[in-house]
Amino acid sequence: MNTQAPSMINADVRFTRVEKKFDTATALHSLDLEIERGSLFALLGPSGCGKTTTLRLIAGFEQPTSGHVYIRGNDVTGVPAYKRSFGMVFQSFALFPHLTVAENVAFGLKMRNVSKADIVTKVAAALDLVELGKLGERYPRQLSGGQQQRVALARAVVFEPDVLLLDEPLSALDKMLREQMQVEIRHLQQRLKMTTVFVTHDQEEALTMSDRVAVMKDGRIQQAGTPREIYDRPRTEFVATFLGASNILEAIVKGKDGTGTILDIAGNTLSVAGVTAEAGAKLCFALRPEKISIGSMDGNQPGGIAASVREAIYRGAQTLLYLDINGMPVNAVVQNAGVEPMNLEPGAAVRLHWDNDNMVALEPAR
Ligand SMILES: Nc1ncnc2c1ncn2[C@@H]1O[C@H](COP(=O)(O)OP(=O)(O)OP(=O)(O)O)[C@@H](O)[C@H]1O
Ligand SMILES: [Mg+2]
Repeated sequence: MNTQAPSMINADVRFTRVEKKFDTATALHSLDLEIERGSLFALLGPSGCGKTTTLRLIAGFEQPTSGHVYIRGNDVTGVPAYKRSFGMVFQSFALFPHLTVAENVAFGLKMRNVSKADIVTKVAAALDLVELGKLGERYPRQLSGGQQQRVALARAVVFEPDVLLLDEPLSALDKMLREQMQVEIRHLQQRLKMTTVFVTHDQEEALTMSDRVAVMKDGRIQQAGTPREIYDRPRTEFVATFLGASNILEAIVKGKDGTGTILDIAGNTLSVAGVTAEAGAKLCFALRPEKISIGSMDGNQPGGIAASVREAIYRGAQTLLYLDINGMPVNAVVQNAGVEPMNLEPGAAVRLHWDNDNMVALEPAR
């Protein structure tokens, strides 16, 4: 079967209503997914949410229980892995210990019956790409963790696959090396313009590296979008809190005025635009701690919402504030810009200011 399903974008990988059931568990529920050609797409979510299963369905190691998988517009549902074109780096990026670096990288080419002369050229090019051109004769045990990781990458890209699949490739590395490799993988991916699906449960990694991110929970995509969309406009409480810290403000709808909907939040009246709800309805809003600014009670910034300080934690560049609005806990992060610090002792009265446009109405929990 070679049906072409309609699409809004030039998708290299597409799922339409893909369901995956194992004996006892449903790993994916009716997943729709579009990954644009040449982009880096991150699958982000907690353990067991279905990230690896999604990757294995793209690779063809698993087949959907129902629904369809398309690669480059072709329906590949039912096509086995060995007939698909992908490079993969597994979570444990095991290299063959008894083969040299060059032999490790050549492995996939030998399996594909590439000529000896071509293998030499392609392996050299792939090792240059990951800046290991001089280390081809070494064995994996003679390399650092980061160098081994680059060999695994070279091995995955050497035969120029349609799609590169990376399953938590950096989780074994320490923080410094991981951050360095994040940048390297991103540069490599952009240079090769290779459609890449990157699995991680590290939100910063997903935000740093990707063109688009899908946040998964319990076998469903909660939200997909650019890092900025996902961070600034989370649709659910899960997405808001999984990607960094967020306040969840509970509000009761009071009615409408000329500009928007009037809300009561812990005894304070606020008006927000772009929200439709009946009077009496309860709504939840996400508000990032860094969107809140702090003024003293006698400061020259009038208005704002009265709050008291529960605790202030000095973090060098920033201060993390645990606050209380009429008993409702709220966190704020303020930059320590070097001005005379105001009183932030526990119990101090302050006023909170934020732009109501930064309050993001959340969908009820799914
Ligand atoms: N071969 C299998 N047989 C039965 N259940 C499976 C199988 N593979 C995965 N599952 C189940 O499917 C769900 C999703 O698993 P998956 O490996 O995709 O999660 P994940 O998001 O990659 O998690 P992690 O971050 O821990 O790697 C889990 O509940 C898992 O137990
Ligand atoms: Mg996994």
